[in-house]
Amino acid sequence: MEQREKILVTSALPYANGPIHLGHLAGAYLPADIYVRYQRAMKRDVVYICGSDEHGVPITIAAERQGVSPRDIVEKYRENHRSSFEKFGMSFDNYSGTSKPKHHEISQGFFLELHRKGYLSEKTMSQFYCPHDDMFLADRYVEGTCPACKTEGARGDQCDACGRSLDPTQLINPYCVLCKKPPVLRQTSHWFINLKQFQGQIKDWLDTKTGWKDNVKNFCYGWINEGLEDRAVTRDLKWGVPVPLEGYEDKVLYVWFDAPIGYISSTVEWAEKIGQPDKWKEYWLDKNTKMVHFIGKDNIVFHAIIWPLILMGHGDYVLPAEIPANEYLTLEGSKISTSKNYAVWLDEYLEKFPPDPLRYCIAINAPENKDADFSWKDFQARNNNELADILGNFINRSLTFLERNFDGIVPPQGELDSLDRELLDKINAAPDIIGSCIEKFEVRKATTELMNLARFANKYFNDQEPWVTIKSNPGKCGTTMNLCVQISRTLAILMAPFIPFSVATLWRMLNQAGDVIKQNWNDAAIPAIAPGHRMNKLEILFPKIEDDVIDAEIEKLKNVVKANQQITQSKPKEEMEDTRIDFEDFQKVELKVARVLEAERVEKADRLLKLKIEVGDETRQIVAGVAQFYEPDELIGKTIVIASNLKPAKIRGIESNGMLLAASNSDKSVLSLLTVDKPIATGARVS
Ligand code: MF3
Ligand code: ZN
Repeated sequence: MEQREKILVTSALPYANGPIHLGHLAGAYLPADIYVRYQRAMKRDVVYICGSDEHGVPITIAAERQGVSPRDIVEKYRENHRSSFEKFGMSFDNYSGTSKPKHHEISQGFFLELHRKGYLSEKTMSQFYCPHDDMFLADRYVEGTCPACKTEGARGDQCDACGRSLDPTQLINPYCVLCKKPPVLRQTSHWFINLKQFQGQIKDWLDTKTGWKDNVKNFCYGWINEGLEDRAVTRDLKWGVPVPLEGYEDKVLYVWFDAPIGYISSTVEWAEKIGQPDKWKEYWLDKNTKMVHFIGKDNIVFHAIIWPLILMGHGDYVLPAEIPANEYLTLEGSKISTSKNYAVWLDEYLEKFPPDPLRYCIAINAPENKDADFSWKDFQARNNNELADILGNFINRSLTFLERNFDGIVPPQGELDSLDRELLDKINAAPDIIGSCIEKFEVRKATTELMNLARFANKYFNDQEPWVTIKSNPGKCGTTMNLCVQISRTLAILMAPFIPFSVATLWRMLNQAGDVIKQNWNDAAIPAIAPGHRMNKLEILFPKIEDDVIDAEIEKLKNVVKANQQITQSKPKEEMEDTRIDFEDFQKVELKVARVLEAERVEKADRLLKLKIEVGDETRQIVAGVAQFYEPDELIGKTIVIASNLKPAKIRGIESNGMLLAASNSDKSVLSLLTVDKPIATGARVS
């Protein structure tokens, strides 16, 4: 007998620093969930693992910006992710988090094993240090101008504009992201993993991966051909897995060292939860396990080179078998951006729509081999014209017809005509066709094939004209209706990985026992509903989505874009027009010296501070968009310049009586308050 293959599936552990959006789903989650649900229906031994990535600079910066601890941030978002994933139907066997003690222990074990085997070496180097914040500036704590493309605001580890990966010391005009001040260089020591000694081994291993997608392979060979450099696996940070070596108590493991180990620790946690604490070993320590990592393309190097190399170095563990990395999903033609709030957030989506239309829409338009775009109009069209008008309509008209003319009882099959036989052939072939697409990670094609099957069924109903044969040839009409019911069941089983919530309803309508997701995939090939079987009452599968609902979503995104434009760029200069003003115009603006008396953050507004200021004898309140550049405490006592005769305005419901003056560069990555050069009383006019 064939031994049941073990399959270990992972989705990239999302950083617990913000909610999950559409782009995440399309890259690493939905395709994995479909794959796993399919494997379960094939009755294979599959475990699906995820959790949140809770270390690293993205987390600590988020914590500092919000004035809370990293622990607060990761717990909040671990729960947020877990719950939105669950509502969206992501069927993880376990969802863990990398700040848990078990994960720390396992990661330290990996580090020590590599250390013991001599794969790590210690180096002293100079690194940016911020005297103001009294800390080393690891990775994204430094920003500056990219040496290659000259874009401002490039991060210490990578420039988002040109994609180049950087060493922080290469940045032009580097500054600390916390205080915006220039850093200094200081000596520090770190542990490095010697990638070079694995170069040959990694290349040989990659050479065996003939079936991998081109995007993944090309990326890896490109990297290897440039020559593998040693990489630091420790950081000067306080939040992370402590380095388990003497003299290194103040340092932690680099987040990309410990994060993938999270796949192991989450599997260990799963095994403990199901009361078989050693069971994780059956997957991780068996070289025959098929390990599949679903990721977005920005994670390729880590999963296809560095992580396998860590596993090779340690020994004992299984290596990835498949890394189906996806490209990016854009939104209404533009790049999704968490920092610019340009995204469809999963938790917000789920407040308004059911999960399945989005699952379907992403699946049929997945960014498999190239970037794909999500638009709300397309979403509406897919729901209304495909899910509702093809699949929903077929089910609805068949079951309504059956109810009206056969009391909802399945009639027997009589003699088959060629159309009937064609339908039976389709049923017969469908599990293999769809299944082989899924095995090849071709979710788009699988989804398209499924909708085509529903389209065929709909056409079959039309062509057989049961509303005519019910009178002229009741036996033939019975055959038609019998087959409509059979194909409905096939559709339910095969669509279960894609739209699990809707097919559960369909299963109920078909009055089938058990859970549709527990059905055997290959049973979908055989018509199995016996004549005499009674249908349940009809339910609506896919309500239509109205224009106004969609327009509101589009409008919302447009407003985000508008708000960003106001922040990131001054109005484009109308080149030909004379923009000079008269002196009288200038004099209309009263600029005055003021002093900050009190400053506090504005709740739920990352950019805003509420200031109480003294302007001569007067005390005023103003709201200023400087929270990302100045701590409230830092501003207290500062002398500033304001435009004092602006009409009062409400900003986020708070009255602002004047406007503070500040200089900023074009992309608003640096902002500097205007102040005065010599002490002068507040209220003094600036002119
Ligand atoms: N947190 C990373 C990201 O969102 C992905 C980590 S995947 C893991 O890009 F393998 F390291 F866990
Ligand atoms: Zn600083």
